[in-house]
Amino acid sequence: MKAFEIQEFGIDKLALVDRETPRPGPGEVLVRLKAASLNYRDYLVVGGAYNPNLKRPLVPLSDGAGVVEEAGPGVTHFKKGDRVMSCFFPAWLDGPPTPETVKPALGGNVDGVLREHAVFREDGLVHTPKNLSDEEAATLPCAGLTAWHALFENILAQPGETVLLQGTGGVSIFGLQFAHAAGLRTIVTSSSDQKLERARKLGADEVINYKKTPEWDEEVRKLTAGQGVDHVIEVGGSDTIPRSLNAIRMQGTISVIGILSGVEPTISPSRILQKSVRVQGIYVGSQAMFKRMNHAVEFHKIKPVIDQVFPWTEAKEALRHMESQRHFGKICLKF
Ligand SMILES: NC(=O)c1ccc[n+]([C@@H]2O[C@H](COP(=O)([O-])OP(=O)(O)OC[C@H]3O[C@@H](n4cnc5c(N)ncnc54)[C@H](OP(=O)(O)O)[C@@H]3O)[C@@H](O)[C@H]2O)c1
Repeated sequence: MKAFEIQEFGIDKLALVDRETPRPGPGEVLVRLKAASLNYRDYLVVGGAYNPNLKRPLVPLSDGAGVVEEAGPGVTHFKKGDRVMSCFFPAWLDGPPTPETVKPALGGNVDGVLREHAVFREDGLVHTPKNLSDEEAATLPCAGLTAWHALFENILAQPGETVLLQGTGGVSIFGLQFAHAAGLRTIVTSSSDQKLERARKLGADEVINYKKTPEWDEEVRKLTAGQGVDHVIEVGGSDTIPRSLNAIRMQGTISVIGILSGVEPTISPSRILQKSVRVQGIYVGSQAMFKRMNHAVEFHKIKPVIDQVFPWTEAKEALRHMESQRHFGKICLKF
Protein backbone atom coordinates (compact mmCIF):
# COMPACT_ATOMS: atom_id res chain seq x y z
CA MET A 1 0.00 0.00 0.00
CA LYS A 2 0.97 3.65 -0.41
CA ALA A 3 1.40 6.01 2.53
CA PHE A 4 2.71 9.50 3.16
CA GLU A 5 5.43 9.79 5.79
CA ILE A 6 7.01 12.71 7.58
CA GLN A 7 10.66 11.81 7.41
CA GLU A 8 11.90 15.39 7.50
CA PHE A 9 9.80 18.42 8.44
CA GLY A 10 8.30 20.60 5.72
CA ILE A 11 5.31 20.26 3.39
CA ASP A 12 7.54 19.73 0.36
CA LYS A 13 9.41 16.97 2.19
CA LEU A 14 6.34 14.76 2.75
CA ALA A 15 7.34 11.39 1.27
CA LEU A 16 5.00 9.04 -0.62
CA VAL A 17 6.29 5.56 0.23
CA ASP A 18 5.39 1.88 -0.12
CA ARG A 19 4.52 0.11 3.12
CA GLU A 20 3.37 -3.41 3.74
CA THR A 21 -0.43 -3.59 4.11
CA PRO A 22 -1.01 -4.32 7.83
CA ARG A 23 -3.05 -7.30 9.08
CA PRO A 24 -5.41 -7.02 12.04
CA GLY A 25 -4.53 -8.90 15.24
CA PRO A 26 -6.94 -9.81 18.08
CA GLY A 27 -9.29 -6.89 18.85
CA GLU A 28 -8.10 -4.98 15.78
CA VAL A 29 -9.78 -3.84 12.59
CA LEU A 30 -8.28 -3.30 9.13
CA VAL A 31 -9.76 -0.22 7.44
CA ARG A 32 -9.43 0.88 3.82
CA LEU A 33 -9.33 4.67 4.02
CA LYS A 34 -11.74 6.46 1.69
CA ALA A 35 -11.30 10.05 2.85
CA ALA A 36 -9.32 12.21 5.27
CA SER A 37 -9.53 15.84 6.33
CA LEU A 38 -6.96 18.43 7.34
CA ASN A 39 -6.77 20.23 10.64
CA TYR A 40 -4.54 23.20 11.44
CA ARG A 41 -2.67 20.85 13.77
CA ASP A 42 -1.67 18.67 10.77
CA TYR A 43 -0.18 21.75 9.13
CA LEU A 44 1.84 22.42 12.32
CA VAL A 45 2.87 18.74 12.64
CA VAL A 46 4.10 18.46 9.04
CA GLY A 47 6.01 21.73 9.33
CA GLY A 48 7.69 20.72 12.61
CA ALA A 49 6.13 23.51 14.71
CA TYR A 50 3.82 21.18 16.68
CA ASN A 51 6.59 19.02 18.11
CA PRO A 52 10.15 19.42 16.86
CA ASN A 53 11.07 16.16 18.66
CA LEU A 54 8.40 14.12 16.89
CA LYS A 55 9.33 10.48 16.37
CA ARG A 56 9.80 9.90 12.65
CA PRO A 57 8.92 8.46 10.20
CA LEU A 58 5.30 9.29 11.05
CA VAL A 59 2.14 9.02 8.96
CA PRO A 60 0.36 12.37 9.50
CA LEU A 61 -3.34 13.31 9.88
CA SER A 62 -5.80 12.32 12.58
CA ASP A 63 -9.11 12.38 10.76
CA GLY A 64 -10.14 9.60 8.41
CA ALA A 65 -13.20 7.73 7.21
CA GLY A 66 -13.29 4.42 5.43
CA VAL A 67 -14.68 0.93 5.24
CA VAL A 68 -13.83 -2.16 7.30
CA GLU A 69 -11.95 -4.66 5.19
CA GLU A 70 -11.28 -7.24 7.89
CA ALA A 71 -12.18 -7.60 11.57
CA GLY A 72 -9.61 -9.48 13.66
CA PRO A 73 -10.38 -12.23 16.20
CA GLY A 74 -12.56 -11.08 19.10
CA VAL A 75 -13.84 -7.91 17.41
CA THR A 76 -17.49 -7.45 18.36
CA HIS A 77 -18.60 -4.01 17.15
CA PHE A 78 -17.47 -4.02 13.53
CA LYS A 79 -17.71 -6.34 10.53
CA LYS A 80 -16.45 -6.29 6.97
CA GLY A 81 -18.17 -3.55 4.96
CA ASP A 82 -19.01 -1.26 7.92
CA ARG A 83 -18.34 2.44 7.35
CA VAL A 84 -16.18 3.87 10.14
CA MET A 85 -14.33 6.99 11.32
CA SER A 86 -11.09 7.25 13.31
CA CYS A 87 -11.00 8.59 16.88
CA PHE A 88 -8.44 11.36 17.49
CA PHE A 89 -7.56 9.92 20.93
CA PRO A 90 -7.96 6.14 20.52
CA ALA A 91 -7.50 5.52 24.27
CA TRP A 92 -9.94 8.19 25.55
CA LEU A 93 -13.18 6.28 25.63
CA ASP A 94 -15.34 8.08 28.21
CA GLY A 95 -15.23 10.33 31.27
CA PRO A 96 -12.76 13.14 31.83
CA PRO A 97 -9.36 13.08 30.08
CA THR A 98 -6.33 11.70 31.94
CA PRO A 99 -2.64 11.91 31.02
CA GLU A 100 -2.84 8.27 29.92
CA THR A 101 -5.98 8.56 27.77
CA VAL A 102 -4.76 11.58 25.79
CA LYS A 103 -1.27 10.18 25.30
CA PRO A 104 -1.71 8.33 22.03
CA ALA A 105 -3.01 10.76 19.39
CA LEU A 106 -3.38 9.88 15.72
CA GLY A 107 -0.99 11.73 13.45
CA GLY A 108 0.77 13.14 16.54
CA ASN A 109 2.75 10.39 18.23
CA VAL A 110 1.15 7.37 16.54
CA ASP A 111 0.71 6.84 12.81
CA GLY A 112 -2.26 8.70 11.36
CA VAL A 113 -4.54 8.19 8.37
CA LEU A 114 -2.69 9.54 5.34
CA ARG A 115 -2.34 6.00 3.97
CA GLU A 116 -4.44 3.58 1.98
CA HIS A 117 -4.94 1.06 4.80
CA ALA A 118 -4.66 1.28 8.58
CA VAL A 119 -5.21 -1.10 11.49
CA PHE A 120 -7.03 0.33 14.53
CA ARG A 121 -8.00 -1.19 17.86
CA GLU A 122 -11.77 -1.50 17.67
CA ASP A 123 -12.05 1.08 20.50
CA GLY A 124 -10.39 3.60 18.19
CA LEU A 125 -13.24 3.57 15.66
CA VAL A 126 -16.88 4.66 15.57
CA HIS A 127 -19.58 4.05 12.97
CA THR A 128 -20.13 6.71 10.31
CA PRO A 129 -23.45 8.63 10.49
CA LYS A 130 -25.74 7.34 7.74
CA ASN A 131 -26.46 10.79 6.33
CA LEU A 132 -22.82 11.54 5.53
CA SER A 133 -20.48 10.75 2.62
CA ASP A 134 -17.00 9.52 3.49
CA GLU A 135 -15.52 12.98 2.82
CA GLU A 136 -18.11 14.58 5.11
CA ALA A 137 -17.50 11.97 7.82
CA ALA A 138 -13.75 12.58 7.66
CA THR A 139 -14.30 16.15 8.88
CA LEU A 140 -15.78 15.10 12.22
CA PRO A 141 -13.16 13.41 14.46
CA CYS A 142 -11.22 16.56 15.43
CA ALA A 143 -12.86 19.81 14.26
CA GLY A 144 -16.45 18.66 14.68
CA LEU A 145 -15.88 17.01 18.04
CA THR A 146 -13.92 19.96 19.44
CA ALA A 147 -16.73 22.41 18.67
CA TRP A 148 -19.33 19.99 20.04
CA HIS A 149 -17.34 19.40 23.25
CA ALA A 150 -16.98 23.15 23.85
CA LEU A 151 -20.75 23.77 23.74
CA PHE A 152 -22.50 20.58 24.80
CA GLU A 153 -20.36 18.39 27.05
CA ASN A 154 -18.81 20.06 30.15
CA ILE A 155 -21.46 22.75 29.82
CA LEU A 156 -24.82 22.66 28.07
CA ALA A 157 -25.33 25.75 25.90
CA GLN A 158 -28.97 26.80 26.01
CA PRO A 159 -31.33 28.04 23.29
CA GLY A 160 -31.34 31.84 23.22
CA GLU A 161 -27.78 32.16 24.53
CA THR A 162 -25.22 33.88 22.32
CA VAL A 163 -21.98 32.35 21.03
CA LEU A 164 -19.05 34.13 19.41
CA LEU A 165 -17.23 32.18 16.70
CA GLN A 166 -13.84 33.39 15.50
CA GLY A 167 -13.00 33.06 11.81
CA THR A 168 -14.46 30.58 9.35
CA GLY A 169 -12.10 27.61 9.66
CA GLY A 170 -13.06 24.04 10.46
CA VAL A 171 -13.78 24.30 14.20
CA SER A 172 -15.64 27.61 13.99
CA ILE A 173 -17.94 26.55 11.13
CA PHE A 174 -18.89 23.39 13.03
CA GLY A 175 -19.51 25.58 16.09
CA LEU A 176 -21.80 27.75 13.96
CA GLN A 177 -23.73 24.76 12.61
CA PHE A 178 -24.16 23.09 16.03
CA ALA A 179 -25.09 26.35 17.77
CA HIS A 180 -27.58 27.27 15.06
CA ALA A 181 -29.21 23.83 15.22
CA ALA A 182 -29.50 24.13 19.02
CA GLY A 183 -31.24 27.54 18.84
CA LEU A 184 -28.35 29.74 19.99
CA ARG A 185 -27.74 33.21 18.62
CA THR A 186 -24.47 33.26 16.67
CA ILE A 187 -21.93 36.03 16.04
CA VAL A 188 -19.23 35.16 13.49
CA THR A 189 -16.03 37.10 12.79
CA SER A 190 -13.93 36.79 9.64
CA SER A 191 -11.26 38.61 7.67
CA SER A 192 -13.43 38.35 4.55
CA ASP A 193 -16.84 39.82 3.68
CA GLN A 194 -17.42 36.99 1.17
CA LYS A 195 -16.87 34.40 3.88
CA LEU A 196 -19.20 36.31 6.21
CA GLU A 197 -21.90 36.16 3.54
CA ARG A 198 -21.48 32.38 3.42
CA ALA A 199 -21.63 32.25 7.23
CA ARG A 200 -24.95 34.14 7.09
CA LYS A 201 -26.33 31.48 4.74
CA LEU A 202 -25.39 28.86 7.37
CA GLY A 203 -27.39 30.75 9.99
CA ALA A 204 -25.01 33.37 11.43
CA ASP A 205 -27.20 36.01 13.08
CA GLU A 206 -24.53 38.70 13.24
CA VAL A 207 -21.21 39.05 11.39
CA ILE A 208 -18.13 41.22 11.98
CA ASN A 209 -15.13 41.68 9.68
CA TYR A 210 -12.23 41.67 12.15
CA LYS A 211 -9.88 43.30 9.65
CA LYS A 212 -12.20 46.24 9.05
CA THR A 213 -13.24 46.33 12.73
CA PRO A 214 -10.08 45.53 14.73
CA GLU A 215 -11.98 46.34 17.94
CA TRP A 216 -14.45 43.58 17.18
CA ASP A 217 -14.90 42.90 20.90
CA GLU A 218 -16.52 46.34 21.31
CA GLU A 219 -18.82 45.55 18.37
CA VAL A 220 -19.77 42.26 20.08
CA ARG A 221 -20.65 44.19 23.23
CA LYS A 222 -22.84 46.58 21.21
CA LEU A 223 -24.62 43.63 19.60
CA THR A 224 -25.35 42.19 23.04
CA ALA A 225 -26.70 45.39 24.64
CA GLY A 226 -23.41 45.91 26.49
CA GLN A 227 -23.65 42.54 28.25
CA GLY A 228 -21.26 40.38 26.21
CA VAL A 229 -21.76 36.86 24.86
CA ASP A 230 -22.44 33.70 26.86
CA HIS A 231 -19.85 31.59 25.00
CA VAL A 232 -16.66 32.16 23.04
CA ILE A 233 -15.14 29.51 20.79
CA GLU A 234 -11.60 30.83 21.24
CA VAL A 235 -9.45 29.64 18.31
CA GLY A 236 -7.32 32.75 17.82
CA GLY A 237 -4.92 32.40 20.76
CA SER A 238 -2.61 35.20 21.94
CA ASP A 239 -4.09 38.07 19.91
CA THR A 240 -7.74 37.24 20.47
CA ILE A 241 -7.89 36.12 24.11
CA PRO A 242 -7.73 39.66 25.59
CA ARG A 243 -10.57 40.73 23.29
CA SER A 244 -12.53 37.57 24.08
CA LEU A 245 -12.29 38.52 27.76
CA ASN A 246 -13.83 41.87 26.85
CA ALA A 247 -16.52 40.29 24.68
CA ILE A 248 -17.64 37.69 27.26
CA ARG A 249 -20.47 38.43 29.68
CA MET A 250 -20.18 38.00 33.46
CA GLN A 251 -20.03 34.27 34.24
CA GLY A 252 -19.78 33.42 30.55
CA THR A 253 -17.64 30.54 29.25
CA ILE A 254 -14.55 30.91 27.09
CA SER A 255 -13.56 27.60 25.48
CA VAL A 256 -9.83 27.86 24.86
CA ILE A 257 -9.20 25.80 21.74
CA GLY A 258 -6.77 27.32 19.28
CA ILE A 259 -3.51 29.11 18.78
CA LEU A 260 -3.91 30.57 15.28
CA SER A 261 -2.18 33.83 16.24
CA GLY A 262 0.34 32.25 18.60
CA VAL A 263 0.82 31.03 22.16
CA GLU A 264 2.33 34.06 23.92
CA PRO A 265 0.74 34.52 27.39
CA THR A 266 -1.72 37.42 27.12
CA ILE A 267 -4.40 36.49 29.65
CA SER A 268 -5.10 38.99 32.42
CA PRO A 269 -6.08 37.19 35.65
CA SER A 270 -7.99 40.26 36.87
CA ARG A 271 -10.39 40.27 33.91
CA ILE A 272 -11.17 36.60 34.53
CA LEU A 273 -11.90 36.99 38.21
CA GLN A 274 -13.75 40.31 37.98
CA LYS A 275 -16.16 38.84 35.45
CA SER A 276 -16.26 35.40 37.13
CA VAL A 277 -15.46 33.94 33.72
CA ARG A 278 -15.31 30.19 33.26
CA VAL A 279 -12.26 29.39 31.11
CA GLN A 280 -12.30 25.80 29.90
CA GLY A 281 -9.52 24.17 27.93
CA ILE A 282 -10.90 21.88 25.25
CA TYR A 283 -8.81 19.03 23.88
CA VAL A 284 -10.85 17.37 21.09
CA GLY A 285 -12.98 14.81 22.99
CA SER A 286 -13.64 11.21 23.97
CA GLN A 287 -15.17 8.38 21.99
CA ALA A 288 -18.39 8.71 24.03
CA MET A 289 -18.64 12.42 23.15
CA PHE A 290 -17.96 11.55 19.49
CA LYS A 291 -20.91 9.13 19.50
CA ARG A 292 -23.22 11.68 21.16
CA MET A 293 -22.21 14.27 18.56
CA ASN A 294 -22.88 11.81 15.74
CA HIS A 295 -26.43 11.29 17.00
CA ALA A 296 -26.94 15.05 16.83
CA VAL A 297 -25.39 15.20 13.34
CA GLU A 298 -27.83 12.51 12.15
CA PHE A 299 -30.86 13.91 13.96
CA HIS A 300 -30.35 17.49 12.77
CA LYS A 301 -29.17 16.32 9.32
CA ILE A 302 -26.06 18.48 9.69
CA LYS A 303 -23.90 18.48 6.56
CA PRO A 304 -20.26 19.38 7.23
CA VAL A 305 -19.08 22.29 5.08
CA ILE A 306 -16.33 21.17 2.72
CA ASP A 307 -14.30 23.86 1.01
CA GLN A 308 -12.42 21.61 -1.40
CA VAL A 309 -11.65 17.91 -1.95
CA PHE A 310 -8.17 17.02 -3.22
CA PRO A 311 -7.00 13.58 -4.43
CA TRP A 312 -5.10 12.18 -1.42
CA THR A 313 -1.86 12.06 -3.41
CA GLU A 314 -2.13 15.86 -3.60
CA ALA A 315 -1.79 16.21 0.18
CA LYS A 316 0.95 18.81 -0.25
CA GLU A 317 -1.31 21.03 -2.38
CA ALA A 318 -4.09 20.60 0.20
CA LEU A 319 -1.74 21.67 3.03
CA ARG A 320 -0.65 24.70 0.99
CA HIS A 321 -4.32 25.59 0.55
CA MET A 322 -4.77 25.42 4.32
CA GLU A 323 -1.69 27.60 4.78
CA SER A 324 -3.23 30.27 2.51
CA GLN A 325 -6.30 30.48 4.84
CA ARG A 326 -8.49 30.95 1.77
CA HIS A 327 -10.66 28.02 2.84
CA PHE A 328 -14.10 28.14 4.45
CA GLY A 329 -14.86 25.09 6.62
CA LYS A 330 -12.95 21.90 5.90
CA ILE A 331 -10.36 20.73 3.38
CA CYS A 332 -10.64 17.03 2.45
CA LEU A 333 -8.63 14.35 0.72
CA LYS A 334 -10.24 11.54 -1.26
CA PHE A 335 -8.60 8.14 -1.67
N1 LIG B 1 -7.87 22.18 21.34
C1 LIG B 1 -8.24 21.31 20.42
O1 LIG B 1 -8.62 20.17 20.71
C2 LIG B 1 -8.27 21.74 19.01
C3 LIG B 1 -8.99 21.01 18.05
C4 LIG B 1 -9.06 21.51 16.75
C5 LIG B 1 -8.38 22.69 16.42
N2 LIG B 1 -7.65 23.32 17.36
C6 LIG B 1 -6.98 24.59 17.06
O2 LIG B 1 -7.99 25.54 16.75
C7 LIG B 1 -7.50 26.44 15.77
C8 LIG B 1 -8.42 26.38 14.56
O3 LIG B 1 -8.28 25.12 13.95
P1 LIG B 1 -8.97 24.83 12.55
O4 LIG B 1 -8.54 23.46 12.14
O5 LIG B 1 -10.40 25.16 12.62
O6 LIG B 1 -8.19 25.91 11.65
P2 LIG B 1 -8.44 26.41 10.19
O7 LIG B 1 -9.55 25.66 9.53
O8 LIG B 1 -7.11 26.43 9.51
O9 LIG B 1 -8.93 27.92 10.44
C9 LIG B 1 -8.29 28.97 9.80
C10 LIG B 1 -9.19 30.20 9.84
O10 LIG B 1 -9.18 30.80 11.13
C11 LIG B 1 -9.38 32.19 11.01
N3 LIG B 1 -8.34 32.92 11.72
C12 LIG B 1 -7.01 32.89 11.55
N4 LIG B 1 -6.41 33.73 12.39
C13 LIG B 1 -7.40 34.33 13.09
C14 LIG B 1 -7.42 35.32 14.10
N5 LIG B 1 -6.30 35.88 14.56
N6 LIG B 1 -8.62 35.69 14.59
C15 LIG B 1 -9.76 35.13 14.16
N7 LIG B 1 -9.79 34.19 13.20
C16 LIG B 1 -8.63 33.82 12.68
C17 LIG B 1 -9.35 32.53 9.53
O11 LIG B 1 -10.72 32.67 9.13
P3 LIG B 1 -11.15 33.87 8.18
O12 LIG B 1 -10.46 33.63 6.86
O13 LIG B 1 -12.64 33.74 8.10
O14 LIG B 1 -10.70 35.15 8.82
C18 LIG B 1 -8.72 31.29 8.91
O15 LIG B 1 -9.13 31.06 7.60
C19 LIG B 1 -6.07 26.01 15.48
O16 LIG B 1 -5.17 26.76 16.30
C20 LIG B 1 -6.03 24.55 15.89
O17 LIG B 1 -4.74 24.13 16.24
C21 LIG B 1 -7.57 22.86 18.64
